[in-house]
Parts: sequence; C-alpha cells; structure tokens
Amino acid sequence: MSGAILNAADFTRLAEFIYQKTGIRFGADKNYYVTKRVEKRMQELGFKSFSLYFNHLRFHSAKRELEFLVNSLTVNETYFFREYMQLKCFAEEVIPLLAQNLRGSKLKVWSAGCSTGEEPYTLAIILLEMLGDTGMHFEVHGTDINTEALKSAERAYYGARAVKDVPVDYLQKYFRFDGNGYWVRPDVKKRVCLYRLNLMDREAMERMSGFHAVFCRNVLIYFDDHSRREVALGFYRSLEPGGFIFLGHSESMSRITPIFKLRRFKEAIIYQK
Ligand SMILES: C[S@@+](CC[C@H](N)C(=O)[O-])C[C@H]1O[C@@H](n2cnc3c(N)ncnc32)[C@H](O)[C@@H]1O
Repeated sequence: MSGAILNAADFTRLAEFIYQKTGIRFGADKNYYVTKRVEKRMQELGFKSFSLYFNHLRFHSAKRELEFLVNSLTVNETYFFREYMQLKCFAEEVIPLLAQNLRGSKLKVWSAGCSTGEEPYTLAIILLEMLGDTGMHFEVHGTDINTEALKSAERAYYGARAVKDVPVDYLQKYFRFDGNGYWVRPDVKKRVCLYRLNLMDREAMERMSGFHAVFCRNVLIYFDDHSRREVALGFYRSLEPGGFIFLGHSESMSRITPIFKLRRFKEAIIYQK
C-alpha cells in the first residue's frame, strides 16, 4: 500500500504506546509482526499515513481502536491441561492444602490471561473432580485483554487440537462431541466467570481480591521486567494470605520479585504469599 509503510521511528512510537497501555513489550525483532498487522488495519480503515492512524488510535474512538489492535497483536496459543504435571500438583497437593484452611468460605481461583478459555475450564474440571463430592464451593475467574479470545471462551467450543491432552474419561464426562468439535458441558461452564481485564490497569487489578490461587501462565513472557513486577505485586494484593501463584514452566517469580515464598512440591515449584 503506497505511503502506509511504517518507518523505524513510527514503529518505536507505536511499540511504546502499546507497552504503556498493555505492558507488552514489542522489541525491534517484532517489527515485521506488528507492522504487517497495523498496515492491514490502516488499509481497512483507509488511512494513507501512519501519523493519521496513530492519532485515530490515540484520540478518536480511542478505546475501540486500541481494543481492535490489541486483539490482533496478542499471542493466544493455549490448550486444555497445558503443563499437566503442574496441574496434577495443583489437584493433589495444593487444593487439599487450601481446602483445609477454607473454613466454609468459597475457593476462588483466577486464570489471568485465560485466552480462549481452555485454562479456566481445565481448572473448573479439576476442581469439580477434587471438590465435587465435598459440598465445598468454588469459582473460577477467567480474564484476558483480548475481547475476541473471550468471545471464543464464552462459546466454549473446541477442536481436536485443543483437547488433545484431556484424559479420555474427562473428555467423555465434561465435553459433548458433536461430530466436528467438543462443547464444554454446562456444569463446567457455569463454574467459570469470564471478563475483560487488562493486567496493567491498576484500578481494575485493585478490584480483584480474595483469591486462593492465581494462574498466570505464559502471559508475563511478553512483558518487560518493570511491567512484570507491577503485575506480580497486583497478584500479591489479590491473593489471600497463603494463596498460591502458578507461572508457566519457563517463568520464574524469583526473577521478578522476592515477595513470594518458593514452595517445592513433588511435581512442581510454586510460589506462595
Ligand atoms: C499465550 S496466552 C496464555 C494462555 C494460558 N494462560 C495458557 O498458558 O495456556 C497469553 C494471553 O495473555 C493475554 N494478555 C496479554 N497481555 C495482557 C494484559 N495486559 N492483560 C490481560 N491479558 C493479557 C493475551 O491476550 C493472551 O490471551
């Protein structure tokens, strides 16, 4: 498209703007990835210069355009029962520990950066298995910045690839196969509450409280040290004393902040408030 190409300075301005709004750091190595998507968007909207589009992004219908752009830039890769050994540890060691100290209150679990829903539904399945017969109450919150991903999560319909790691007995018990894909059954769906939340939005983060476990896996890898620390402190405030935080296997809370205690379980390392 003539005149629509982003130069290096444009990319830097845009990357800084996205970073301020989302915590996601796009370095120079992501120039092509970002530029391709922005240019496509400019073409759709009929913008001939980046400056005009950038003004539109910042000032006119600002939130809607930012939402659209963020939806196209986030990486939403996920699947059910991702990092199985860590989930096994949650099921067999962490849930019993938490349940001991609940004293009648509801167990609250948060999947922060839940993408298209596979993680919060996995957590609901595990909680149903572990607590279903005990009469103990629980709820799972699934939040993400990407509104398109959340729409898919609400639909709760998945292809074979997403369910490849689901144990066969759970697949039969908690999903309905319609010949093409898998619907999450209503008894799982009703345990999960999905909504948009930007982890860098301090006010929204302050409203999140009373959680016993937070899963924020494969999300902070896209952030820089500063925004990782901000978000980690937000999780600390959202957790009850003794609450747990689960990161992806390549991530380390000790490298972000020393505020959490490191706990070694049989199958996994987990951080605790
Ligand atoms: C790779 S997915 C991880 C999904 C799931 N947690 C897992 O491990 O399978 C990363 C998710 O983080 C979300 N994300 C990125 N920045 C965010 C922010 N500032 N606030 C909330 N969610 C964010 C993305 O939209 C994306 O859905």
